[in-house]
Amino acid sequence: MRVGVLTGGGDCPGLNAVIRAVTKSLIHHGHCEVLGIADGFEGLMGQTPRTLPLAWTQVSGILHMGGTILGTSNSANPLKDEATLAQVGRNVRALGLDVVVAIGGDGTMSLAHSLRQVGLACVGVPKTIDNDIALCERSFGFDTAVATATEALHRVESTANSHHRVMIVETMGRHAGWLALEAGIAGAADIILLPEIDYDLQAIVQRCREREQRQRYTIICIGEGAKPRGGALTVREHVAGSPDPVRLGGVGHVLRQQLQPHLKSEVRATVLGYVQRGGDPTPFDRVLATRFGHHAAQLVIDGQLGRMVTLQNGGIGSVEIAQVANTQRTVPPGHELITVARDIGVCFGD
Ligand code: F6P
Repeated sequence: MRVGVLTGGGDCPGLNAVIRAVTKSLIHHGHCEVLGIADGFEGLMGQTPRTLPLAWTQVSGILHMGGTILGTSNSANPLKDEATLAQVGRNVRALGLDVVVAIGGDGTMSLAHSLRQVGLACVGVPKTIDNDIALCERSFGFDTAVATATEALHRVESTANSHHRVMIVETMGRHAGWLALEAGIAGAADIILLPEIDYDLQAIVQRCREREQRQRYTIICIGEGAKPRGGALTVREHVAGSPDPVRLGGVGHVLRQQLQPHLKSEVRATVLGYVQRGGDPTPFDRVLATRFGHHAAQLVIDGQLGRMVTLQNGGIGSVEIAQVANTQRTVPPGHELITVARDIGVCFGD
């Protein structure tokens, strides 16, 4: 079999570990030929497909590396018009690909599902630091991002303490609060604001004032998709033509402006941004990514196409890509971690 491998959407620590595991398993265990596709689906959209050889040597020594050796793109949309779609189909046939292993988030899974119409069979591997892919309890990259955001919160705490300030730290996560929630708990935030729980400014003001009396500093961890009750999302930009056109970011600064007039302490905001996506994966993510890559190869070898690898109840399995396309896994407001945090005094702004 001839198998293509691509990475789509925003990058994420652990992508190279998946590329390595899927390639090695397909070569060693499945006796397949493996071809890398450059820059996600974009590599299949031009007159000439852009590919990279993926042999044993190309994937040796990359396990620990952040980013993706294949490159990625998060605005490539092969469905943008009929001509592009037809070109993708021609390129897949010209390359002689029997199947493509698509490593990406919900946008990539939706594209992988739609591309059946031009004869492209895919196997999916879930990737995101946001941990928001449906039917998958943990995606690789999330653990690394939580570790990075936790360290940032920890560092911000000492300066907050010295200056007696309210410090806001904004994490990524789009419409899901997993990253803000876990980093907020691990980084000892006093207030955690999630996209799933609209905040009431007065509740935050009250908690900060209480802390002004006692500890004299407050740490707030806010997910980029959080918004005030009855208010709007903070949108950084709209990217026309992208499968994921709404880019979030900046709510930390918005909250700073809302909060400052009500407090004696100075309020400062830090947006962590791409720092959370970069760098080398943690050992947990290297192992999870290796398990995911191995299982994707097994699905290819077994002819179980159109499926995405998952982690459920700690075990590796798979679901139909159709089941996860265009869906997101958000934090249920009654989640055990929210209860734990509330019971130790964390304020969720509600
Ligand atoms: O990787 C997912 C994500 O990190 C989101 O949390 C964030 O909103 C988005 O990527 C930003 O990505 P970009 O600016 O590359 O579109």
